[in-house]
Amino acid sequence: MNQPASRIYRVELGPRSYDIHIEAGCLPQLGHAVRQLFPDVDRCLIVSNDVVAPLYLDVVQQSLAESGWTCHSCILKDGEQYKTLTAWGEIMDALMQARLSRGEPVIALGGGVVGDMAGFAAACYRRGIPCVQVPTTLLAQVDSSVGGKTAVNHPHGKNMIGAFYQPSLVWIDPLLLGTLEPRQLRAGIAELIKYGLIRDAVFFTWLEANMDGLLALDSGIVSEVIHTSCRHKAEVVMADETEQGMRALLNLGHTFGHAIESMTRYTEYLHGEAVALGTLMAARLSAQLGYASTDVEASIRGLYARADLPLIIPQFDAGAWLDAMGHDKKNVGNRIRYILLRGMGDAFVAEQVDEAAIRRLISSFTV
Ligand code: NAD
Ligand code: GLY
Repeated sequence: MNQPASRIYRVELGPRSYDIHIEAGCLPQLGHAVRQLFPDVDRCLIVSNDVVAPLYLDVVQQSLAESGWTCHSCILKDGEQYKTLTAWGEIMDALMQARLSRGEPVIALGGGVVGDMAGFAAACYRRGIPCVQVPTTLLAQVDSSVGGKTAVNHPHGKNMIGAFYQPSLVWIDPLLLGTLEPRQLRAGIAELIKYGLIRDAVFFTWLEANMDGLLALDSGIVSEVIHTSCRHKAEVVMADETEQGMRALLNLGHTFGHAIESMTRYTEYLHGEAVALGTLMAARLSAQLGYASTDVEASIRGLYARADLPLIIPQFDAGAWLDAMGHDKKNVGNRIRYILLRGMGDAFVAEQVDEAAIRRLISSFTV
């Protein structure tokens, strides 16, 4: 698997189509790319946070200024706990103060938290202005920046307030991962392993062979995983933009994972770590219901261990699990939806899993 140095994937969605540009070292060319996309406007708002801005805001501002952009900025507090309507309101205030007009873009510079919030602000301000995603974490480069899911959290549930709103461009510079904390890198790895599990068994095997290189940020391997992940994400989004069907498979591990995040008040696990734990639960449930062999959970566990992801399911009683999962926005009516596996690379949506099966699953993880 050898990828060219730079590559553009086109997400074809009719009037909402856009490019995903992947190229090591492309950050300084952002201004030129945004200028080509929006030749007739001059102002933009960069949304970032107080960790990413000191690292990359200058480069982005300079690049935009060189292409004739007047940049305003809105720097949010870092962290999932600030993925709130209050922080979203700060972006709104900045948009109002900058008086951006309809065609002028928001530039989201950060990980999934910044990207989701800036995207949602762009979706709402003046009923929609363009949003350019510049993802700076592995998770955001392989998943959240593509596909147009935007949201903020509510005390009653994660990402409960949001919109489908596609970006106008996704600009991915893998070199930005060099400053990422190792724990954040591993959380992103959990999200990309997902593509192997739901639709690409060959990719899963390739990851088993290349995990050490990925953790060491080998440039060829990083490039390969971003390319493969963006291709999968784009294909799924093109087939099912608003999650009426197969896009739900991308939520493998998320029903349990979101419950873990909410039961631990978003403080103990990173999103990708919670998804990893949730995926182990989904794999075991698949085996307990007779859909998959127990080898599937064992293989996933083995790869997660190599990536130093958490493997121990937190202990809560079944009532707490069911209550937390009952709030998940992916549910249909009162039914909790589970993404299960038939085997490696083969996932499906199950809506008829009874409560007794979930109680049995949870007790099988009780220590
Ligand atoms: P994050 O945005 O909180 O970023 C993780 C940490 O890394 C933060 O402290 C951030 O400031 C820091 N950081 C970002 N880039 C950096 C860099 N280059 N160098 C150093 N530090 C850097 O978390 P995340 O894992 O990127 O995203 C998680 C969020 O994404 C969750 O809120 C989740 O719900 C959301 N998400 C959305 C989608 C979607 O489709 N929209 C998909 C998956 C996850
Ligand atoms: N990350 C899940 C989705 O985009 O649908």
